[in-house]
Amino acid sequence: MTAATETLAIEARGLARAFGGQPAVAALDLNVRRGELFGLVGPDGAGKSTAIRLLCGLLRPTGGTARVLGLDLRTQPDRIKARIGYLSQNFTLYGDLTVDENIAFFADLHGVRDFRARRDELLAFTRLTPFRRRLAQALSGGMQKKLALACTLIHTPELIFLDEPSTGVDPVSRGEFWNILSDILARGVTIFMTTPYLDEAERCHRLGLMHRGRIIRAGTPDDIRAALPGKVFRLESPALTAAYHALRRHRPAASLVLYGDRLHFWTQAGADGARAAAAELEQGGLGPVAWREIAPSLEDVFIGLLGAEGDAHEKTGK
Ligand SMILES: Nc1ncnc2c1ncn2[C@@H]1O[C@H](COP(=O)(O)OP(=O)(O)OP(=O)(O)O)[C@@H](O)[C@H]1O
Ligand SMILES: [Mg+2]
Repeated sequence: MTAATETLAIEARGLARAFGGQPAVAALDLNVRRGELFGLVGPDGAGKSTAIRLLCGLLRPTGGTARVLGLDLRTQPDRIKARIGYLSQNFTLYGDLTVDENIAFFADLHGVRDFRARRDELLAFTRLTPFRRRLAQALSGGMQKKLALACTLIHTPELIFLDEPSTGVDPVSRGEFWNILSDILARGVTIFMTTPYLDEAERCHRLGLMHRGRIIRAGTPDDIRAALPGKVFRLESPALTAAYHALRRHRPAASLVLYGDRLHFWTQAGADGARAAAAELEQGGLGPVAWREIAPSLEDVFIGLLGAEGDAHEKTGK
């Protein structure tokens, strides 16, 4: 084993999977360190779930290689499966089984025989002990997610894959869910997750931004923010929606994001670009326009980076 495989939980090189000739994961190049919380983000259909299923050994790659926990994905998928946990995007509990019975079922699935102590620990950990005899279908959405997480952890995996674990969970339960994830990390478990929530992406140690089956940027949230060329401005106008549509006519979609009460404008031309946009709006009767440079949010950066990729894609036709 090399020094790299000891410190890396996941190493993927050109890992690919196509369905009917269409690439879902075109070429995944990825390093995830042990003990890290790594977040994979990207638009619908980018290939995030497929990437996870490949890395879990559930889908056979059509190209490339990967090592997971130092094991070869192609030749040792069963040894990998024994040491990882996977919470799929469409994970469903057995609604007509109780909390306890669901955990027992997953223990059995993983061949964990003496699971009672671990189950009690996980129930306490997820604060589900008072509900252990309740049917899973009678739990709230947030509690169901916590139970699903407990089921994923029953065999004490070293690495867990969580595909949109908190989608549809209310903000309070989401906060509690994140406290549990922090505890899991503190125990040295590596977490690889996808999330559509950018406040969650912000909490990851490192992120990969996935687009059309490839990771187009990877790094800490700050690294990713710094990767956006140009500057972001906040524009204010008495007619914000009209201002958005007026500017959109001559500018790429990725350069403008209309939030409820504010308009963010990204331009490579810096202050000159913002000044020109403001003048254009004022001439069109949409003034007075105020503008100021702002620190871009992760959302601005993702939209900008994805837009830049889309433009390159159209130009090269690839
Ligand atoms: N089993 C399959 N058969 C055929 N096509 C598939 C299959 N699984 C995924 N795909 C296709 O692969 C592409 C990537 O899908 P994937 O589910 O990995 O995206 P995703 O990034 O997880 O999207 P979302 O954010 O919506 O969950 C999509 O075009 C999808 O339709
Ligand atoms: Mg998905």
